[in-house]
Amino acid sequence: MINEEYFYDFPVFETARLILRKIELEDAADIQAIRSDQKVMTYMDSYEHKTLEDSEKFISEGLQRYDSQKGLFWGLVEKSSKEFIGDFSFWRIDRKNSRAEIGYTLKPQYWGKGYMKEAMLRLITFGFDDLNLHSLEANINPGNENSRNILLKLGFKKEGYFRENYFYNGKYLDSEIYSLLKKDFIEQGSF
Ligand SMILES: CC(C)(COP(=O)(O)OP(=O)(O)OC[C@H]1O[C@@H](n2cnc3c(N)ncnc32)[C@H](O)[C@@H]1OP(=O)(O)O)[C@@H](O)C(=O)NCCC(=O)NCCS
Repeated sequence: MINEEYFYDFPVFETARLILRKIELEDAADIQAIRSDQKVMTYMDSYEHKTLEDSEKFISEGLQRYDSQKGLFWGLVEKSSKEFIGDFSFWRIDRKNSRAEIGYTLKPQYWGKGYMKEAMLRLITFGFDDLNLHSLEANINPGNENSRNILLKLGFKKEGYFRENYFYNGKYLDSEIYSLLKKDFIEQGSF
């Protein structure tokens, strides 16, 4: 059973280089900067945030998902500069099966420095140990090598390849599905 206490008191974390805290409406400008960047959006298969209002709407929907215990959305803040550099979410929590689908983005100037791995190690540990998730799922565009790399590094296994199952922007796109079970994560033991 999902541990509901974290939906009353948002879980904030500190890692070596990051603060992981709740995303709020005040983060709209940073979210817009990320979600209007072509490098970020290439394989996201979701619409670019053209205006600040697009990002405010996106954040509001995330806050509503949190209030109805369907998702948790963290901002990644770099400790030394206090800059908002990205986000990570359990954006769809399937409570019956204690399973969550994850999503994540980083500002491109922070790619290749291990920031997302640092955030994900902490938040996945929280997801399994404290929130009581049993498994995680990630759904990627098969062209998204950076995303696949991080999933494989964290021990996710490829479980499926769906041909042309996702209609976006006038095209049917393929998807790769990855998952991580709590027991896989514990057995890896290298973290
Ligand atoms: C997916 C995404 C978050 C991955 O970012 P990333 O910076 O590559 O991921 P990591 O934090 O794991 O960093 C890994 C890289 O940092 C390097 N690195 C440098 N310093 C490091 C450190 N201190 N610790 C760990 N890794 C470090 C690693 O070697 C690795 O590089 P490599 O892949 O060339 O081996 C990023 O590409 C992104 O935002 N993409 C656009 C949005 C997107 O597609 N999201 C996913 C949708 S499914």
